[in-house]
Amino acid sequence: MENLKVKIGKLLLKNPVMTASGTFGTGEELEDLLDLNKLGAVVVKGVTLLAREGNPLPRIAETPSGMLNAIGLQNPGIDAFIKEKCPFFLRYKVPFIVNISGYQEKEYGLLAEKLEDVPGVAGLEVNVSCPNVNYSHGRIFAKDPGAVARITRLVRKNTKKTVIVKLSPEISDIKIIARAAEDAGADALSLVNTISGLAVDTVTRKPRLANIIGGLSGPAIKPIGLRCVWQVYNTVKIPIVGMGGICGTEDALEYLIAGASAVAVGTGNFIDPQSTVRIVDGIKKYLKANGLKNVSDLTGSLQV
Ligand SMILES: Cc1cc2nc3c(=O)[nH]c(=O)nc-3n(C[C@H](O)[C@H](O)[C@H](O)COP(=O)(O)O)c2cc1C
Repeated sequence: MENLKVKIGKLLLKNPVMTASGTFGTGEELEDLLDLNKLGAVVVKGVTLLAREGNPLPRIAETPSGMLNAIGLQNPGIDAFIKEKCPFFLRYKVPFIVNISGYQEKEYGLLAEKLEDVPGVAGLEVNVSCPNVNYSHGRIFAKDPGAVARITRLVRKNTKKTVIVKLSPEISDIKIIARAAEDAGADALSLVNTISGLAVDTVTRKPRLANIIGGLSGPAIKPIGLRCVWQVYNTVKIPIVGMGGICGTEDALEYLIAGASAVAVGTGNFIDPQSTVRIVDGIKKYLKANGLKNVSDLTGSLQV
């Protein structure tokens, strides 16, 4: 019998396949389409301290082998989120991981504190890398190792839950940022968030997104995600959740082989909301066909 279990911080996941934040709501929107208990974990849409309407429409555009989005972290704010959304988590056995975003460093600490005693919240994914909002004077925290370390320490201080720090590929040396998060107490890293891009409507000569710039996701970014996972795998000891363009089993296997302990499906959910469960089955078949017992044996098995 193949063993698909993986450990991410304190969480023992029954398989390595998760949903990527912002592409799966809280899971409630998709529960009629798949059995959430078949997933390794559900990572829910990003939440901020205060409610946000998000960016003006249009905020999604299809691009070659991918999509651009500039949702702008639309969410009801942490208090309403805890009251209205979190009770749903108790209906399933799967761990729910809440994705948190702040505009100032201290907000991350407050969000962690508010979520600490909420039943059903298994862990936190700390989003320091969203390209669609104007953080702290227009820069994203994920470009600054000092900011990443301070934010990680603040969250670490306020929670005993598993802390996963989500990084951006838009950095000249991702290894420096990964090390900063690990040294500051992160249990795991998520790689990668979207990469900023632009799409133009040649009829109107306007940008296709009202926000002008959006985050590119989907198969177009897979080689970048894989490169980041490989570089970071060779730099840190904590586990990596790999994402960026995973739509099928082959993609997930590539990430595991490059160094990911678990994977997340984002844009792939828009193409096929059941892609996560198909990937779980596909990984199981691959292990069997290759005489492998544990999925963890694949992690970092790239032959170089
Ligand atoms: C519509 C949309 C919304 C997203 N919202 C969030 C978010 O709230 N927080 C976050 O950390 N990442 C967010 N992301 C990034 C994804 O979680 C993921 O890192 C990225 O899309 C790369 O994976 P993919 O190519 O499989 O989509 C969002 C992505 C998309 C497409």
